[in-house]
Amino acid sequence: MQSTKQIKEIYTNDRSMNKSFNIRYTEQTIPVFARWFGSWQISVQRKAFSSPELTHRYDQAAPGWGQMLDRFGYPRAYATFFRRVLGEEALEILGAQPHVLDCGVGTGALSSALVGVLRTPFKLDAIDISPNMLERANCNLRDTDLEVTLRLGDVRELPYEDGVFDLTMTAHVLEHLFDPRVALNEMVRVLKPGGLLIACLTRRSALGMFVHLKWRTHGVTPAQAESWLRATGLENVHCLSFGDRAFCRQLSVVCVGRKPHLPRLRSKLQTRGRMDSFAQAPQQVGVNQYKSEGSLMKAIVYTKYGPPEVLELKEVEKPTPKDNEIRIKVYATTVTAADFRVRSFTVPLSFWFPARIGLGFRKPKKPILGMELAGVVESVGKDVKLFQKGDPVFAATLMSFGAYAEYKCLPEDAAVSIKPSNITYEEAAALPIGARTALHYLRKANIQRGQKILVYGASGSVGTYAVQLAKYFGAEVTGVCSTTNLEMVKSLGADKVIDYTKEDFSQNGETYDVIFEAVDKSSFSACMRSLKKQGIYLNITVPLPAMRMLWTKMTSSKKLLLGENSPENAKDLSFLKELVEAGKIKSVIDKCYPLEQIVEAHRYVDKGHKKGNVVISLAESEVNASA
Ligand SMILES: NC(=O)c1ccc[n+]([C@@H]2O[C@H](COP(=O)([O-])OP(=O)(O)OC[C@H]3O[C@@H](n4cnc5c(N)ncnc54)[C@H](OP(=O)(O)O)[C@@H]3O)[C@@H](O)[C@H]2O)c1
Repeated sequence: MQSTKQIKEIYTNDRSMNKSFNIRYTEQTIPVFARWFGSWQISVQRKAFSSPELTHRYDQAAPGWGQMLDRFGYPRAYATFFRRVLGEEALEILGAQPHVLDCGVGTGALSSALVGVLRTPFKLDAIDISPNMLERANCNLRDTDLEVTLRLGDVRELPYEDGVFDLTMTAHVLEHLFDPRVALNEMVRVLKPGGLLIACLTRRSALGMFVHLKWRTHGVTPAQAESWLRATGLENVHCLSFGDRAFCRQLSVVCVGRKPHLPRLRSKLQTRGRMDSFAQAPQQVGVNQYKSEGSLMKAIVYTKYGPPEVLELKEVEKPTPKDNEIRIKVYATTVTAADFRVRSFTVPLSFWFPARIGLGFRKPKKPILGMELAGVVESVGKDVKLFQKGDPVFAATLMSFGAYAEYKCLPEDAAVSIKPSNITYEEAAALPIGARTALHYLRKANIQRGQKILVYGASGSVGTYAVQLAKYFGAEVTGVCSTTNLEMVKSLGADKVIDYTKEDFSQNGETYDVIFEAVDKSSFSACMRSLKKQGIYLNITVPLPAMRMLWTKMTSSKKLLLGENSPENAKDLSFLKELVEAGKIKSVIDKCYPLEQIVEAHRYVDKGHKKGNVVISLAESEVNASA
């Protein structure tokens, strides 16, 4: 540990460094806003603080800096992300006597948090551009067992040899710089192969705006932070949410990456628990190797609406169950027609605005898709009464999405039920949306024994369940599908099948009590021709009536029931479970893909011709799908 006098000597001896950052990096700008309007680009930039200006500002801020961080909960937030990244195996990850560099040590809050988590003396080097901050850091770190060396220095020109440190870290420094990658390159240069880099940045948010205004910083998005880290050649880069307090999470984002290590080191690290998730790039992980423990999980993430290629396999933070929630280890999920609609933002024009508000205006609000799943309860919140660890369950996540991930948290009173015991997880995952939708609408239509029902689109997910459930309710069922699906629909119990490629169902003189339009491919006039006088027309795909429908509603005794989100309901799932166990209904599985082939799975579903359901398996597949 150095005395204040020793530190002062270091400042004095470091004049050359001081000089270098005084003369460079001035007249640089920080982008504030840039947007294309046709062929015009409007862009606003702000002159960055020069190094002396920044030094001066930090020198002035130093006396109250520590108190301010305490007030906003930063020391605890720093400790939280260290625990998330390093956990119990911190010393295995960093080595027995880690050598750590804190770039922009400030008052030493970040380094102090690491002391609390590592709980062992380590060698700490730290730099800052502000002498006042360094003096405070010296006071604060004085009482630790660390071997500390503090220096005046600029993160863009680190005064260290290559490959010295096991961990380089920085908090709220990079966003001040015109090009943060210059500093990141330096931090990577001084890192040992296999070493970790942790960067905490002010994020673009309403709260972050105050920081940007005062400190002229970049408004960094997690995606941008990741791209900066990746640009330096770091691997396994990902962002973690920051701390447990909403305030800190709103204001900051923390991004982690690892310097590629030598093959010998890689194999050594791969044998270690927590670092397994860092050790392999997501693309290399096979479906049956999903064993990442600790705080990260694999998930399919999309950050913009578009074709299947917007879906990416990433490592993200594992969700923590609230007191009333269960955390489900997902074994299987599905790709539904609704997933295609949400991913590509394909909605009827009349529904465009409300859908944008619900799903996210400029980009998806919920970056992980997936509306149904089956798996096992892995942990429960302290108030949970209905489920316990190890329960096999199936669930609809609906508008909370998030089933394309290894773990999903749901309130215990959400649409979750114990899985039917006689089917696989893949088959159970396909029940919540299709079967529940069919059940909801058939009940709404009050389907009765002996009534005649026509299911249009009988080979799709909703259609296959509608045929079986209508049969269960005692109706006489006619299914409409294409030639290749005739046998399958018959095998589900349909009394009659009509091949839509060869025959127009409305021309054979038959009339029905209920017409269930499951895919919105029939003509409304044809349906009206074939509907009995008091008949019910169900269309699950159209949220609002067209003029023609309104007119029919006003002028005839025929009833129209249009698409709405069927309410989340665990009771319906339990009812379906009983039907499955009694052999009354089953899931038709068309194809089954591993998680990393999600893009192929979406491409297939986008074509609009799946038979029943397409499943994504995250565990050993028990189902014999014809993939
Ligand atoms: N309101 C709600 O709560 C709710 C819930 C779930 C789903 N939905 C909506 O319901 C719709 C259906 O969903 P889904 O998952 O059941 O669809 P799906 O499985 O993707 O439907 C595909 C099926 O439609 C058939 N099909 C395609 N063109 C056809 C045509 N011209 N005539 C007859 N059948 C045709 C295909 O058979 P062929 O290959 O033989 O043509 C294929 O088997 C979607 O629009 C979805 O968004 C609504």
